[in-house]
Amino acid sequence: MKLAILSRAPNSYSTQRLQVAAHDRGHKVRVLNTLRFAIDLSGDEPDLQYRGKQLSDYDAILPRIGASITYFGTAVVRQFEQMDVYTPNTSIGINNSRDKLRSLQILSRHDVSIPASTFVRDRLDVADAIQRVGGAPVIIKLLEGTQGIGVILAPDAKIAESIIETLQSVGTNVLLQRFVSESRGRDVRAFVVGDRVVAAMRRVAQGDEFRSNVHRGGSAEAVDLDPTFATTAVRAAQIMGLRVAGVDMLESDHGPLILEVNSSPGLQGIETATGLDVAGAVIDHIDNQVAFPELDVRQRLSVSTGYGVAEILVRDDSEYVGQTITESGLRDRDITPLSLHRGSTVIPNPRPARVLEGGDRLLCFGNLEEMRGLIPARRKRRAKVADLPEEPLVTHVEERHDEGQPTPDE
Ligand SMILES: Nc1ncnc2c1ncn2[C@@H]1O[C@H](COP(=O)(O)OP(=O)(O)O)[C@@H](O)[C@H]1O
Ligand SMILES: [Mg+2]
Repeated sequence: MKLAILSRAPNSYSTQRLQVAAHDRGHKVRVLNTLRFAIDLSGDEPDLQYRGKQLSDYDAILPRIGASITYFGTAVVRQFEQMDVYTPNTSIGINNSRDKLRSLQILSRHDVSIPASTFVRDRLDVADAIQRVGGAPVIIKLLEGTQGIGVILAPDAKIAESIIETLQSVGTNVLLQRFVSESRGRDVRAFVVGDRVVAAMRRVAQGDEFRSNVHRGGSAEAVDLDPTFATTAVRAAQIMGLRVAGVDMLESDHGPLILEVNSSPGLQGIETATGLDVAGAVIDHIDNQVAFPELDVRQRLSVSTGYGVAEILVRDDSEYVGQTITESGLRDRDITPLSLHRGSTVIPNPRPARVLEGGDRLLCFGNLEEMRGLIPARRKRRAKVADLPEEPLVTHVEERHDEGQPTPDE
């Protein structure tokens, strides 16, 4: 295959290793500076220029987009996606992974655990927020920090409140998170490629530092990953839409907690700690998947009006329970099951002879009208949430002099 590594650091350890691994396997590989692309929407088809010239054909890209160029970098990746060039990490995945709040929001609805986290804006809500995540000491995080910079351990609630107020006064949003004290100064990095963990290490902080980042002096050692950690890491990467990812987890008393999912994980630390050929695994995965460029199924399918994708729930009292997919008559109703979710397992392309059980969820493509009655009712939130106090219709709006001019959409 012909592979482009998108990177601004051609001489870095990671880029070099990936380039050599691709070359050794007989692939054509080039390192292209992400910032030298021009996104070209002037012709009939989406196109890219590189250093002022028409870009030649590539089969795949491997984006290594640094945090400082996320906007432009993901725009370039998105353009490759429009041109049907394979990328292991999608532009959406990279974007989502860059913001700690956004990634935790996405992960939180799935079956992976995260440290209790909360996000508030008004200072009147800060005290409650701290209690919600377990009280002080509490972790305060910048949404887009890296290398441990922007992660603060506030010893008590008053200090936490004043740190948050200070940061918000300069327009910086922060996330509040439970301090997982049993994992103080340690975390686990699992390097995920496709649907497996190819290498893992534990990082241990220096001295009384609570952050285990190598940039904060932490040291790394290879670790034999417990299967629950491996499964959690792979799920987190998949949920984020990343096929090459560095998944950081805390080791809590209740198992793995996902801290973050990195879309351009470095290779030096993990290859040095484990002695494994991580670069080779990345290249082999791309080579294996290159025929399957990303496509937005919903977008493509929605072109056929009246048809779409929906998830059908087989209720316990449904007539479908005990019937095969054929007997259910779904196909006769113009509904095609694409995958079957049963508990925590997924059965892709379920066979017509597959017997349905109560609680099964079938992801289907089909006639929207036919599917309407089969879609589960919207999930109810907790049975009894304390009712909010009655608010007067017009509340007093506090004048804020500290926020500068409001932007037009505020
Ligand atoms: N909720 C937490 N509880 C305990 N330690 C934490 C928590 N959040 C972060 N840490 C420590 O701080 C380090 C940096 O946090 P992280 O969220 O990964 O930010 P960064 O993107 O800067 O690496 C982690 O590797 C971990 O050692
Ligand atoms: Mg980290």
